[in-house]
Amino acid sequence: MKKVTLALAALAGIVATGAQAQTYPTRPITMIVPFAAGGPTDVIARIVGEHMSRTLGQQIVVENVAGAGGTTGITRGAQSQPDGYTIMMGHMGTHGAAPALYPKLKYDPTRDFAPIGMAGGTPIVIVAKKDFPANDLKTLVDHVKASGEKVNMAHAGVGSVSHASGTFFSSVIKAKPTMVAYRGTGPALNDLMAGTVDFMTDQIVNVAPQIQGGNIKAFAIATPERSPALPDVPTTKEAGLEGYQVSPWNAIFAPKGTPPEIVKKLNDALLKALDDENTKKRLLDLGGVLPTASERTPEGLQKLVESEVARWTPVLKAAGVTAE
Ligand code: MLT
Repeated sequence: MKKVTLALAALAGIVATGAQAQTYPTRPITMIVPFAAGGPTDVIARIVGEHMSRTLGQQIVVENVAGAGGTTGITRGAQSQPDGYTIMMGHMGTHGAAPALYPKLKYDPTRDFAPIGMAGGTPIVIVAKKDFPANDLKTLVDHVKASGEKVNMAHAGVGSVSHASGTFFSSVIKAKPTMVAYRGTGPALNDLMAGTVDFMTDQIVNVAPQIQGGNIKAFAIATPERSPALPDVPTTKEAGLEGYQVSPWNAIFAPKGTPPEIVKKLNDALLKALDDENTKKRLLDLGGVLPTASERTPEGLQKLVESEVARWTPVLKAAGVTAE
């Protein structure tokens, strides 16, 4: 009798999940952004999430859960119910660099998620406060090398994109600036504009408006081509630092075990957002890069995460960086 009961219970569970998936979503969806409000990941989440809400017929509510370079928020997301009502915006840091930096990381980016798709590429720009004593990349590099720990570089915590790209920058130019951690590069940018921190390597969607407004200085963009949003900012190759190339990305994940029908509904809403003219314009105006067709798929994102974890581990270990 007991076996029959268990089988019926299991069947009921499958049927319930199937029924839930069919009617999903019936209530608002939480999107965890693992950094402070106002930074690049938050900006991408709100732009893309706004259009996704329309397709899904339920509000996507952004919840900023900052800390530990984004791993606090992603850990919470990974451990949430796989029912489609908690998703998260991760990126090259949380799902690429973090395993090399956190030996006791509570999630495996390659196994503990149901990837939904990439929301946007966010090239790195080297920026500094307005009165930084340099007006080109070579002079900035010379000053940073000569200043040692007297010059400070902002970042969003060990494991963040700004930390990984900043560490990579320091190792390429062979310098050791003082690293100053923030809960996101939104707050870091405020201090850069106030002149209380010297420079940082940050995602274009955060710094483009302040560069265009003349409130901070930009020295180079770490991609092979210039950004249409910042046509006057040279590439690192043009500026004499060809070896510094970084192309971060932000992407949507659900917890492992999320039913495939729900993954498909979320991915469909993402695809519609990325095809929407207004959403595209908002991302492109900030210097965002629209994902390729493959990067927009769960399978393409899974492959990207696997390759990024493989890429960043040796780079960060060579730089001798760890969070613990
Ligand atoms: C943010 O949104 O603050 C950034 O993505 C943090 C980072 O990874 O640098």
